Amino acid sequence: MKHKTRLVIGNWKMNPATLPEAKRLFLKLRDKVRVTRYKSEAMVAPPFPFIAELNRLSPQGRIGLVAQHMSALSLGAKTGEVSAAMLKSIGVEGVIIGHSERRADGMTDEAVNALLLTALKAKFLPIVCVGETARDQSGDFYDLIERQIRRAFVGVPKSKLAGIVIAYEPVWAIGSGATAGPEDILETKLFIQKVIVQHFDRAAAGKIRIIYGGSVNARNAEAILAQGQVDGFLVGGASLRADEFLALLKIASE
Ligand code: PGA
Repeated sequence: MKHKTRLVIGNWKMNPATLPEAKRLFLKLRDKVRVTRYKSEAMVAPPFPFIAELNRLSPQGRIGLVAQHMSALSLGAKTGEVSAAMLKSIGVEGVIIGHSERRADGMTDEAVNALLLTALKAKFLPIVCVGETARDQSGDFYDLIERQIRRAFVGVPKSKLAGIVIAYEPVWAIGSGATAGPEDILETKLFIQKVIVQHFDRAAAGKIRIIYGGSVNARNAEAILAQGQVDGFLVGGASLRADEFLALLKIASE
């Protein structure tokens, strides 16, 4: 079966410490991506202050630049906020929305929805994160995932689904070294698809890409792709090591 173009997104979070380090990491990725025809798509989400400079280093845009966050507003008296248009003007193509580290800081499902609509308007690739804090035996966590998706997608036209990514990220797996088992990832992916089918329709649901995040590395990636049947990865810690990120791109290209 033909699969959708796989996506490997490196979420650098609040790393590395300085612009020269960010440039070094980015250049290692760029130089390899330039000469290798990966079949999977590479994107990185650096901290805001580094993006413009990294964009200058990547004229061919073979590594997409993603923002880790943005405002749903376009301009005005909002101290510390950054708009979609500002990000677009420095080469950003996508945005991570509703990451659990931001939800932990108070981001609501409604705010996730507002950002998804803003991202679509800006023609960004939105990467919408959903995931449970803990897996209970009775499967109650599925209700939470369903709620996160239903609320995030309010007002989203189904014609836009092909340009949206859902990242399934079990919160307990993020940065912990423990990934969800490939069977559990597959089960959750199928569940997410079912929710999308119910919210939209089957054809639309077939277009959306569902990726996995939470302690992905070059050792567990193959099993997650093969058995979890996801369309790629959202990678935190491992994306800060060029070799590891490139290994993930290679695995996702096979
Ligand atoms: P991790 O982070 O790969 O370090 O677990 C994933 C994420 O937060 O997106």
